Amino acid sequence: MQIKKVGVLGCGLMGSGIAQVAAQSGYPTTVVEVSREVLEAGLKRIDQFLATGVAKGKVKPEEKQATQARLAGSTRQEDLRDCDIVIEAVVEDLEMKREIFARVDGILRSDAILASNTSSLSITEMATATRRPGRFVGLHFFNPVPLMKLVEVIRTIQTEEGIEETVSAFARSLGKTPIRTSDRTGFIVNRLLVPYILDAIRALEEGVGSITDIDQGLKLGCGYPMGPLTLLDLVGIDTTYYIANIMFDEFRERRFAPPPLMKRMVLAGFYGRKTGKGFYDYSVEPPRPNDFLTAR
Ligand code: 3HC
Repeated sequence: MQIKKVGVLGCGLMGSGIAQVAAQSGYPTTVVEVSREVLEAGLKRIDQFLATGVAKGKVKPEEKQATQARLAGSTRQEDLRDCDIVIEAVVEDLEMKREIFARVDGILRSDAILASNTSSLSITEMATATRRPGRFVGLHFFNPVPLMKLVEVIRTIQTEEGIEETVSAFARSLGKTPIRTSDRTGFIVNRLLVPYILDAIRALEEGVGSITDIDQGLKLGCGYPMGPLTLLDLVGIDTTYYIANIMFDEFRERRFAPPPLMKRMVLAGFYGRKTGKGFYDYSVEPPRPNDFLTAR
């Protein structure tokens, strides 16, 4: 099967990135959001990303134009009708995802493939909400989607022969490198990444080092592109908190348990870059570490 038309459910941080990359790779792409307002915000994010690309000389102005011409935004799931693959990237809420998949399953052709960009929920549990568990996979992208080269391809014990190959070829056509993983909470990357970034918060809580020193330590000492607390602010402290809870639920291991400071930051709305405040304060340039976090 050849994928010719792409659908994306959700136009948040991940959904907009996936829709952008698909359209930029030549696929007519439809992205669906619940409201016009959220949709417009997502399309604006894509516009800004492409505009930055043009300013940096990484994207030609005509490529930006062609990408946006291939991209359609909608608030109606029915507009996904003729898509060959639909990738879901809505919030990490299993019941909501199952409901959306059940509805979209009824709209798509029977040979279309459904995929979830979940970071931590069970692909099998979502697939069983549809009548096509054999044509259901996980396709896990990384933030920022247009820049990160990896896609985790998750197959379940129900995935039909040939589907994994089709979606891996699709991932390659987006300029990504696919890796194969089984349907285990967190897959490969978050299984290793989440305990590491949670430990960075624990180190901060215990006074092992300041925000800046923890980040500098891992960046300069290990050659990571950014420190763990900067990365948390990028991915979203709320998102990582939900992922950690799901992983803790699955494995019951302390290393996946969100530290108390993280919970308080989520309760206070300190989600990171998206709310302007996380481990760093983004209202100033360069962002300033919120060192008061550990004193309260
Ligand atoms: N369009 C096109 N290209 C762009 C661009 C744009 N809008 N913005 C930047 N670029 C290019 C730059 O020109 C540069 O290209 P070059 O390497 O050829 O010079 C490259 O992208 C890097 O950009 P910058 O120089 O502006 O920025 P950095 O060097 O600081 O890199 C980063 C930014 C890629 C985000 C890097 O810091 C990084 O890799 N950070 C780690 C991110 C990470 O770990 N993500 C995974 C999170 S986990 C996740 O998502 C899973 C989920 O389930 C939680």
